[in-house]
Amino acid sequence: ASLNSMMQANGKLYFGNIIDTNTMQGNEDGVLKGEFGMFTPEYSWKWNRIQPEKGQFHFNDSDAVMEWAEANGKQIRGHTLVWHQNIPDWVDAITDKEDLTKVIKDHINKAVGRYKGRVYAWDVVNEVFNEDGTFRDSVFYRVLGEDFIPLAFRTARDADPNAKLYINEYNLDYAGPKIDAMLNLIHRLQAQNVPIDAIGSQTHLTSGRVSEVPAQLKRLASTGLDIAVTELDIRIKRPVTPAKLQQQKGEYALVTKGCLDVPACVGISMWGVSDKNSWVKEALPAFGAPLMWDGNLRRKGAYGAVDGLL
Ligand code: XIL
Repeated sequence: ASLNSMMQANGKLYFGNIIDTNTMQGNEDGVLKGEFGMFTPEYSWKWNRIQPEKGQFHFNDSDAVMEWAEANGKQIRGHTLVWHQNIPDWVDAITDKEDLTKVIKDHINKAVGRYKGRVYAWDVVNEVFNEDGTFRDSVFYRVLGEDFIPLAFRTARDADPNAKLYINEYNLDYAGPKIDAMLNLIHRLQAQNVPIDAIGSQTHLTSGRVSEVPAQLKRLASTGLDIAVTELDIRIKRPVTPAKLQQQKGEYALVTKGCLDVPACVGISMWGVSDKNSWVKEALPAFGAPLMWDGNLRRKGAYGAVDGLL
């Protein structure tokens, strides 16, 4: 049985992964189609790919991903609408409130509108907090303050009333000011009736710092919103050794069980298949081997641990 069907047998909606035009026909496509039911586009749905120049919308690649999903009976989590990274310079340069408000609305209306009724969810805002719980400096926060968040959610809801609307964030995996700030923000948004459905916990984890994940997922669920593990990987400090891979096995099982044990947790998405192709390689070169398949696309111990648990 696939990871996806076993998750569903455990009462969850899916086990997911990332997809994009480069992997739809690559050597991982068999694993992707065979094991996973929900897909997050890794690149092609980001702002700089969809609207690189003002008013010029490019949907060729994002359409190809949507069509791949529909042709293969898979679902899509749209990723992502308002994020400080992967935005074009023309957006970063905006200083006028009215101008930025219009630009955010237009981008969301076009992107969400295009796939209306066809996606399961959207990551509406991504990574808005610093580690100390203050808002991250971004063009969105500089120009609009916190208001960009309700604006983005309200616009997205109108553009596709059926999509689950997520706030997505990393390092919500242990107690501290960042998860506190997230919970406080959710309460403020709920008090203003902002249409938010769910919190995505990216869970880009470091091996050795995983044990609190189940408890923090429960705290996120205490908001009453849906919860999802949206970008799971567990990176290992180099050199990668058999003992460290053994530890990683248990950590994958712990995170999976953490979702199973929280009724509000709808599913888990990995951020990649083979260790060879993970984003960690470039972004965090001191670490390696974060995924459940090795560089030769063989299942690792971590896969066996998750498979055994499900
Ligand atoms: C990453 C991709 O994996 C990289 O290939 C790309 O260069 C940058 O973005 N958090 C997110 C994802 O929400 O969109 C990021 O994906 C990884 C961190």
